[in-house]
Amino acid sequence: MTPKEFSFHYVSAHELDVASGIATLHIDFLQGEAVHIYLEPCPKDLIEIAETPVLTPFPVVEVEDGIEVDLGYSKLHVGFDLNFKLIRVGASFTVRHEKDGEDYHLRFPLSEATRIYGLGDKLAPLNRRGYRYRNWNTDESKVQHEWSHSLYKSLNYLLLNEEGTFLGLYFPSTFPYTFDLGKTKLDELEVVAEQGYLDLYLFCGKTPKEITSSYSRLLGHPYFIRLKMLGNNQSRWSYGEESSVEEVARRYAEHDLPLDYIHLDIDYMDGYRDFTVNPARFPSLKDLSKRLKEKGIELVAINDAGVKVDPEYPLYQVIVDHNWALHDEAGKPYVGEVWPGDAIFPSYIHPDCQSYLASVASTFLEETGVSGIWNDMNEPASFKGELPLEATLPYPDREVTHLEAHNLIGEAMCRSFVSSFTSKNLRPYLFSRAYMATTPKYAFAWNGDNGSFWHHLRLSLPQIMSCSLSNLMFDGVDIGGFNYQCTKELLIRWYEGNLLMPFFRNHSSWDARPQEPYAFDEETTAICRKYLIIRYAFIPYLYNLAQKMAEAGEMMVRPLFYNYPKDKKSYDVDDEYMVGEDVLLAPILSSGTYARAVYLPEGEWVDYFKGSLIQGGRYILAEMGLGETGIYIRNNTIIPEFESLLHLDKENIEEIVFHIYGNEGGCDLYEDDGKTLNYHCGEYNLYHASYKDGVFALKATHQGYASPFKRIKVKRGDKEVVVPFEANASIKI
Ligand code: GLC
Repeated sequence: MTPKEFSFHYVSAHELDVASGIATLHIDFLQGEAVHIYLEPCPKDLIEIAETPVLTPFPVVEVEDGIEVDLGYSKLHVGFDLNFKLIRVGASFTVRHEKDGEDYHLRFPLSEATRIYGLGDKLAPLNRRGYRYRNWNTDESKVQHEWSHSLYKSLNYLLLNEEGTFLGLYFPSTFPYTFDLGKTKLDELEVVAEQGYLDLYLFCGKTPKEITSSYSRLLGHPYFIRLKMLGNNQSRWSYGEESSVEEVARRYAEHDLPLDYIHLDIDYMDGYRDFTVNPARFPSLKDLSKRLKEKGIELVAINDAGVKVDPEYPLYQVIVDHNWALHDEAGKPYVGEVWPGDAIFPSYIHPDCQSYLASVASTFLEETGVSGIWNDMNEPASFKGELPLEATLPYPDREVTHLEAHNLIGEAMCRSFVSSFTSKNLRPYLFSRAYMATTPKYAFAWNGDNGSFWHHLRLSLPQIMSCSLSNLMFDGVDIGGFNYQCTKELLIRWYEGNLLMPFFRNHSSWDARPQEPYAFDEETTAICRKYLIIRYAFIPYLYNLAQKMAEAGEMMVRPLFYNYPKDKKSYDVDDEYMVGEDVLLAPILSSGTYARAVYLPEGEWVDYFKGSLIQGGRYILAEMGLGETGIYIRNNTIIPEFESLLHLDKENIEEIVFHIYGNEGGCDLYEDDGKTLNYHCGEYNLYHASYKDGVFALKATHQGYASPFKRIKVKRGDKEVVVPFEANASIKI
């Protein structure tokens, strides 16, 4: 490489243009050690990205093969030739790029040790190196496996780990991207931006935590969920009439099983028309919702992307009258096929169409008493096959091709319904199957149609952890598996295996054997009860994490390396997961297995069930019979807990428990009404709990919400102390 002359021009304090005489490379320095590099920017009208520029420019100097940026704690090296054909980032991350027709190919040489994480929902180990995927939202409903090329989501994010040096890469575009993660060439990562732009963001923080938070801030942190959404969800395609819904509530109550939501799949609708109710099957959905709410259970209803073709159906007619449907050149709506038969696809990206849909959804929620919306088939899926790529969706000032809008449709559908909740001062209960990396600020997700297979249980851990790394931090899979037949053993291991995953829902298909916790035998019910009770105990801990996720982009569910980035043994562990910093779960994930190796990172750990202290930094062998799992708590900490709750309605929760592990430690506790947006106006409480020298102390650091707590319970080993609740308390134990 020979020295070259570049001219530098600061367009503003944070924007640098580097001109080579042939081309100009734009470099934008953003807060959180994020750097935006582009030759041609991808249009950002469809993607919502909030760039926060640095206030003072980083010192940039020209070096032999490019530039060097002093980030303070390290130097970012960006090397290139006059065409900017070679971009070298850092000591070892290099990007070569070339344009092939409409596509940009970016090539990153990989050293032997480099691991590649991220990419969201793909079914593969946590380290995705060796696989190849195309991000093009796809309904893969029969059997998903490691080589499923495209799944429901397009999360264009990679986290590279080169022996403890981490780099995040995000590719902002709605167009399809192919990621060849060292499959075709073992030592090369190739990213193909189809119809693309050379436009990427680099995240150079010191740790995976800093990098992920900075990436999440750019795209928008996941929204703050309701407390109740951390509870148990029961679903099936379908509880198709009022009596079967009530039967679920009755059987849950009869078996003392915690439950917060029951989901209504497509059969509640009238002829599969969105936002309608079948009057014969659900003569009074509003009354049903009310009766269930009195028992602490709320309803969630499915809503599909395709709208039934029916001139008598107002939703269809309004979409057609306003020319808001996906259409051909002559303006004729494209007709696909979904559950109702012929269906059109509204332009969810059009703000006017969104406002109209928001008002329809608002009325539906008011008239039915339903609490949440479940957006489905929004890749979008059609039984007639792919929607034509050249068909267009109306958008202000331009028509957007389906090719450009496809990956965004799931998100746009969610954006349409956010105000249906927020206008009622409620945090949305809104989730989706199709998804992009920018969607978490509007909705959460589940990972689509898995099967009742052991390998799907096994892969659900890296799948959910990879989603979490890619900004989809509130996520879950269908517990028990959606398609095919679940067995007793698989169901039990799934309750254990996904115990503290953010979204917890048992869901199955119409032709699958019933798999509710009470569907097998008394032993299964008792084991599921035990685990649901444990999950409900951890709710205050999970809610703290949900608040941190929304405020700072900190992940709830984490691979071990996120908390222990220097521990090389943690880099490939994906049959265990951590929740926050203090809880590690190591379940059994295969049949006929009653013991497993558990890797515990450095430090001391407490076996949750036995109370024994274990030295970490090594593998242990743990026996786990059916109904037993591995939960390990970092020693010297406090876990805030609830006890004996069957439903999570904040106003009824009278006791907060502080469970002390070890001889000292602390924790924060965040508290609010659990459902409204009032926390924005300071209506929340923050406490710090600590334990030292035999004294537990609680101290309020922010008080803005009238807490319903009446008692504090402090637990340590076999000891328990209960005192009347006070925001500032001191208790000997
Ligand atoms: C899709 C969904 C599934 C749902 C079914 C019927 O397959 O992924 O969860 O039960 O449609 O609505």
